[in-house]
Amino acid sequence: MELRLDRKSPTEVEADALIVLEFEEFSSLPKGYEPMREVGELKGKPKEFALLHHVPGYHAHRILMAGAGPKQKFHSSDLRTTIASAVRFLKARHLGNVAMVLPEDLSTPEHVSAATEGAILGDFECDRLKSDHADDTPLGSFHIVVDGGSDGLEQGLKRGRILAESQNFARALGNEPANLLTPTVLADRAQAMARETGIGVEILDEARMLELGMGSLLGVSQGSAEPPAMIVLRYEPKHAPAGKTRLGLVGKGVTFDTGGISIKPADKMDQMKFDMCGAAAVIGAMRAIALLEPPIPVIGICPSVENMLGSKAQRPGDIVTSLSGKTIEVLNTDAEGRLILADAITYAQQLGCTHLVDAATLTGAVVVALGHHHTGLFATDDALLDRWKHATEHEGERMWQLPLGPEYREQLKSGYADIANIGGRDGGAITAAMFLKEFAGETPWIHLDIAGTAWNEKSKPDLAEGATGVLVRSFATLAANWRD
Ligand code: BES
Ligand code: ZN
Ligand code: ZN
Repeated sequence: MELRLDRKSPTEVEADALIVLEFEEFSSLPKGYEPMREVGELKGKPKEFALLHHVPGYHAHRILMAGAGPKQKFHSSDLRTTIASAVRFLKARHLGNVAMVLPEDLSTPEHVSAATEGAILGDFECDRLKSDHADDTPLGSFHIVVDGGSDGLEQGLKRGRILAESQNFARALGNEPANLLTPTVLADRAQAMARETGIGVEILDEARMLELGMGSLLGVSQGSAEPPAMIVLRYEPKHAPAGKTRLGLVGKGVTFDTGGISIKPADKMDQMKFDMCGAAAVIGAMRAIALLEPPIPVIGICPSVENMLGSKAQRPGDIVTSLSGKTIEVLNTDAEGRLILADAITYAQQLGCTHLVDAATLTGAVVVALGHHHTGLFATDDALLDRWKHATEHEGERMWQLPLGPEYREQLKSGYADIANIGGRDGGAITAAMFLKEFAGETPWIHLDIAGTAWNEKSKPDLAEGATGVLVRSFATLAANWRD
């Protein structure tokens, strides 16, 4: 897609369609179209669109009036979703050369970034494996028309492109079916990305994990013919950082979750190809981090396995020894995410991470609790939580904090090992988090349960069906804004 800033008058821009924001408080309709507002055909509400053809005085073939809501409350996140929805509206009509007018008071790097992200995210479709692409016209060009503006605007464009392309990279990984995206293939993709962006990469294979003692992860992968992989991506800033921070991002990479011997029902089991979206978010974020060059070192750690059943599979009641030395009684083989994350978290600590954030499609229980609009958030450190809230609010990614506490740890007591891997139905997302906390220990840590937010079952006005790439932007922004 050709992407650029156009310092022209809106009337002179050539495009299939020129997007103009329409706010609630006042109208931006071109001269002669005011009655549309008067009769209530257009109110300036979000998700409202009106396509005007051959508007006198404009070179663009059409003007798309895009409802933007109250100007007073308009956040850069609203610009991202408005542009994404507008782009999808136009794509559905086979209009691929698009421009938008950025109002003068919104001509900031932040808004340019958000608009760019909207265009790139809205353009994404999950049709790679369809023979017929006729219904998807990818954007040929997206121009942001600004009136003057500073040099910083080019930086905004660059940032937006990095974030959104990294998020789309994660979405594409998420959408791949499990026959095509095994742990080995996921590791290959991460490796290729690392080579392209110049960051460090190491893939631990089964033998190495056995040598290190990752018994918790290996117990999950032993039922699959596909070998596991521990993907380690390393970003080091060019200039030695002032502080001692080493941020660790950990992502669950189960390329398919059958449930194992504690097998899942057939209905919707296909969706368990998305069980690697935590890893995809980390890999996507590491791509963005490599290109944005934040001031702190960041390590991305993605344990990847396939959770299968068969004569070699782990049984309920099996006891495994994790990398931390703690023993775990596996009472349900479907609670596998926490088993692979336990070893990844310990490994992250061994690599010197001072702060940890993990992302995982961990529990059905978090979907019952929060539905599909908020990611479940758990935290053990207020300072890290504060940084995280700033990043997610800036990126418009919604989180809802759930509690941790020793009373929930009671549910994980095992008669035979240090801890059991399930704690019953009640508070299922919380007991899963408490299990991880056992391994995170004193390291400041945030756990994000993205089981409800990692994919859309149906397409939305601003986002295609399939993997959402949730957390890629927040992770990258957390690192980019970090000052010790
Ligand atoms: N990958 C699933 C969680 C999941 C379920 C994600 C539905 C998205 C939608 C996870 O590995 C799992 O199976 N968790 C179990 C835990 C239970 C056995 C304690 C669950 O949530 O049912
Ligand atoms: Zn499972
Ligand atoms: Zn799972």
